[in-house]
Amino acid sequence: METIRSPDELRYWVESWRLENRSVGFVPTMGALHAGHLALVRHASQLADRVVASIFVNPTQFGAGEDFERYPRDEERDSELLQEGGCHLLFLPEPSTIYPQGHSTFVEMGPPAERLEGEFRPGHFRGVATVVTLLLNLVRPDHAVFGQKDAQQLAVVRRLVRDLHLPVEIASHPTVREPDGLAMSSRNAYLSAEERTAASAIYRALSSAREHIEQGEHSATEIRRVLREVLEREPLIDIEYAEVVEADSFEPAGVIRGSIVMPVAVQIGTTRLIDNIPMEVD
Ligand code: PAJ
Repeated sequence: METIRSPDELRYWVESWRLENRSVGFVPTMGALHAGHLALVRHASQLADRVVASIFVNPTQFGAGEDFERYPRDEERDSELLQEGGCHLLFLPEPSTIYPQGHSTFVEMGPPAERLEGEFRPGHFRGVATVVTLLLNLVRPDHAVFGQKDAQQLAVVRRLVRDLHLPVEIASHPTVREPDGLAMSSRNAYLSAEERTAASAIYRALSSAREHIEQGEHSATEIRRVLREVLEREPLIDIEYAEVVEADSFEPAGVIRGSIVMPVAVQIGTTRLIDNIPMEVD
């Protein structure tokens, strides 16, 4: 695996692969890698001949008072994991490379970026949409792989690629979980032992809601109630939202039918965690 920091080197590698007729897959990350990220790399290597991963803790997607400064960073370990995971090229740009002095162009989006994460983290998706557009333009991959873990981000990226006619196929990978169901996340490292135990209620709530739907419940109001009921039993959890939405638009679902997502955001101590389960309902 090669590690590079400049767009020129990136272009050199990707163009040399193009000359050999090799396809390119891309996995953007913010580092502090875990098995979820590595599953995306594996997925990319099944879709394309060569895999590029990026690690960039993108300042523009963090709000004031969020965890940009304390976000875990471990370049050495991350690059070992990527190397073992089958990545061919690691792009590790500096903030001044992505946002040179005077940078003033941002990607502003309507739905599906407005609700939920968009409401609780104003400006977050503006930062995500901007950096993903920039990275896709720099790497120019055939395929880019995103995790279902960040379901609204996935919907935002799919919409962005469609709206801007970006020449890339977006693929997704299911959420990789710990044995007790907690979605793997770089932010799980912030949790104390007690908070870590409490966090397993998120997946219990989602699983319980899924069971209700599988048993024929079609009322979104009832499913929202089930999600809240399980989460509220855990005193360390503060709910930000527990929703049922249409998978494409992230608009609230009325009747549960077709492609839906149940996204949940909670605060546990000083840590904010999100998770979801997608479902196809007849
Ligand atoms: P990050 O949180 O590092 O996640 C990078 C990718 O890994 C995203 O597509 C995310 O959905 C996926 N991912 C994270 N945890 C996962 C899990 N448990 N199972 C499966 N996939 C998982 O998301 C970002 O970074 C940033 O917003 C980014 C897209 C890189 C733009 O800055």
